[in-house]
Amino acid sequence: MPKNIIVAGGAGYIGSHFCKLAEAKGYTPITVDRLTSPSSRVEEWRKQAVQWGPLEVADIGDEAAIEAIAQTYKPVAVVCFAALIEVAESVAKPDMYWDNNFNKAVRFFKTLERNGVKHAVFSSTAAVYGNPVEPRPLVEDDMLAPINPYGMTKLATEIALQGTRKNASDTFMAEMKQRSANMDFPKLNSVIFRYFNAAGADDCCTIGEMHEPETHLIANAVLAAQNARDFAKDKKFTLNGTDYPTPDGTCVRDYVHVDDLALAHIQGLEYLLAGGKNEAFNLGTGKGYSVREVINGVKKATGKDFKVNEGPRRAGDPAFLVANADKAERVLGWKPVKNLDAIIQSAATFHGKHG
Ligand SMILES: NC(=O)c1ccc[n+]([C@@H]2O[C@H](COP(=O)([O-])OP(=O)(O)OC[C@H]3O[C@@H](n4cnc5c(N)ncnc54)[C@H](O)[C@@H]3O)[C@@H](O)[C@H]2O)c1
Repeated sequence: MPKNIIVAGGAGYIGSHFCKLAEAKGYTPITVDRLTSPSSRVEEWRKQAVQWGPLEVADIGDEAAIEAIAQTYKPVAVVCFAALIEVAESVAKPDMYWDNNFNKAVRFFKTLERNGVKHAVFSSTAAVYGNPVEPRPLVEDDMLAPINPYGMTKLATEIALQGTRKNASDTFMAEMKQRSANMDFPKLNSVIFRYFNAAGADDCCTIGEMHEPETHLIANAVLAAQNARDFAKDKKFTLNGTDYPTPDGTCVRDYVHVDDLALAHIQGLEYLLAGGKNEAFNLGTGKGYSVREVINGVKKATGKDFKVNEGPRRAGDPAFLVANADKAERVLGWKPVKNLDAIIQSAATFHGKHG
């Protein structure tokens, strides 16, 4: 049986790691990616990142192009990583985020549905939880109250795929209602993955995290240690906020290796193809690390010290964001295996080669 999978955003960071694993597991990943980036370096790199199946350069919102791709490859499922991912940019340009991450995503799934696709795996985020009040690992039924347009667009797409969420805040639901008036939602069977902090790179280190600007902590700290990219010019490494109610005053996050995330997507696909129904899962390790702990880990792994400027809090950063991923283990058999040291080491090797 042909196992063609449409992978939207397959040229990006997490998507490329998924495509590599999918190919190894006997699927043919067909990357659908518009390959546009404000940086020509990232654009060039994205072309390199697509090695495990055909590449179709298209925007997910382009119905004619997506229809033609679906007719050519007759995919059994779709995995959608395609999105704009910068929280601060989403605050500055909310309409752009709602258009790309919600309107286009819904159109994309509808087009695939019309062309016979029945199963979808969708990348969501811990940002759907907003600013949790209690410092404890989050479960899927916790309050969903995103505080920025990025998180809102992800939660709105979750709801478009799976129907209403009883734990979504009234404020969010009011915004979604306004944004989705007269929209027709797809009826696909879906698995939604809420990633906490994706980090690290593939063992071969030909693919890894490549964003510009890079806003993610581990990649940034590694680039600072290696004095690479903008750090070689005048960029300073800034720690955003040292007065949070956490043991050392800095934010606590749950870092999950990108290859562990890729494996969850294979397990999610297999769950759907075996008849599994709509579910949402947290993907994280259940263990939180403070920003200071990560910085020290990067300094140790690279053997390089770098100056850390202590700045004010960044608006919208929760103090503590850690996953309870028991449901993913129980239902899918997913268990992350790579710890923070492995994550940092792989990121350092990747950026040392490509930084
Ligand atoms: N990186 C993280 O830590 C993290 C955490 C939580 C959730 N996520 C989610 O995971 C997914 C992948 O993240 P990433 O870090 O790999 O991002 P990325 O920016 O590296 O990759 C996204 C890819 O999607 C493509 N894309 C965006 N809009 C498109 C469109 N309209 N049509 C076609 N292609 C389009 C981009 O060209 C890019 O190649 C995103 O949906 C993101 O919201 C990421």
